[in-house]
Amino acid sequence: MKKIILFIALCLVNLRLYSQYKEFHPGEIWKDNKGIHINAHGGGVLYHHGTYYWYGENKSENSNNALVGVMCYSSQDLYNWKNEGVALEVSDSKESPIVRGCIIERPKVIFNERSRKFVMYFHLELLDKGYAAANVGIAIADSPTGKFTFLKNSRVNAGKYPLDMTKEQKESTSTVADFKDWWTPEWRKAVEDGLFVRRDFMGGQMSRDMTLFVDDDNKAYHIYSSEDNLTLQIAELTDDYLNYTGRYVRVAPGGHNEAPSVFKKEGTYFMITSGCTGWDPNAARLFTSDSIFGPWKQHSNPCNGDGADLTFNSQSTYILPVAGKKDAFIFMADRWKPKKPSDGRYVWLPIKFENGLPVLGWLDQWGLNVFN
Ligand code: GAL
Repeated sequence: MKKIILFIALCLVNLRLYSQYKEFHPGEIWKDNKGIHINAHGGGVLYHHGTYYWYGENKSENSNNALVGVMCYSSQDLYNWKNEGVALEVSDSKESPIVRGCIIERPKVIFNERSRKFVMYFHLELLDKGYAAANVGIAIADSPTGKFTFLKNSRVNAGKYPLDMTKEQKESTSTVADFKDWWTPEWRKAVEDGLFVRRDFMGGQMSRDMTLFVDDDNKAYHIYSSEDNLTLQIAELTDDYLNYTGRYVRVAPGGHNEAPSVFKKEGTYFMITSGCTGWDPNAARLFTSDSIFGPWKQHSNPCNGDGADLTFNSQSTYILPVAGKKDAFIFMADRWKPKKPSDGRYVWLPIKFENGLPVLGWLDQWGLNVFN
């Protein structure tokens, strides 16, 4: 009898752990199935066969560098997450670009219908090189939880000009050396006209904060802060998602956008980004376009109410379409804690639409029923 009671008690404890949350609590500690704050920063979510997979940066208590790798958590209801462990592990080999101590940020995973492979892209900075490398890293797996195998890293589209640069811009002889001072109006104009695209033409375009987007036709795109974080670029991937087709465009040249997150609703593409103030929050920006390749039109800050000018103390990372609910999108953002990175918080808010444009407002807590 005692044993049965103990068994039932254990089951109840387990049940409690597994169905802990019935709502989202933006900005608060968010415990996984083991009762530990979820460690998946700068992340994104993949929905696959009825399960959501949340990938993000594992951050340690006192370092922003990658000491573990990219984490994966799974969930059926979006509130409660099971720790699936490290999906992509850092390496102990000094020869590896993803050696322990490098910087791995903003990992995103997409599923390739043709190859049946899971493909991960992330922002990679090489060990002890600060943020100079501005590389993209690519990894692949047979199962959503990994382990992912690291394939390669590079800059983007070496030797290719964007589709939207004019002949005049491509052939301009103006170089970075012509500008003693940055941030002057002349320099800004030159950046808009592709100064850094030309500088990086041979070695490939810089790629830092990033996301991936798969369109209705299964074509995938890598969207990243390029050109010294001054300009976003959107690059089309090959059908296996492992390479670039060479087709890419620039978005808001010189506009200083980071943390891109993209979704599509009724044929319109929406992008929410941040400005560039490092770990400190700033006001979100909103863009729309009828085509992934633009032209993208900028609108005013999508955030409303208290805290709107600092995106409720957070920075965008991903926009998650809720499975099975029409026009239901969750804005996912990070509240960074650079002094104790693993304590960084997650701000998830529902996207509302007013006059056809996304609007974000703060909620202490909320559930998926807001979308009904
Ligand atoms: C932020 C960026 C983060 C990280 C950080 C480093 O602006 O969004 O992903 O790179 O800078 O300072």
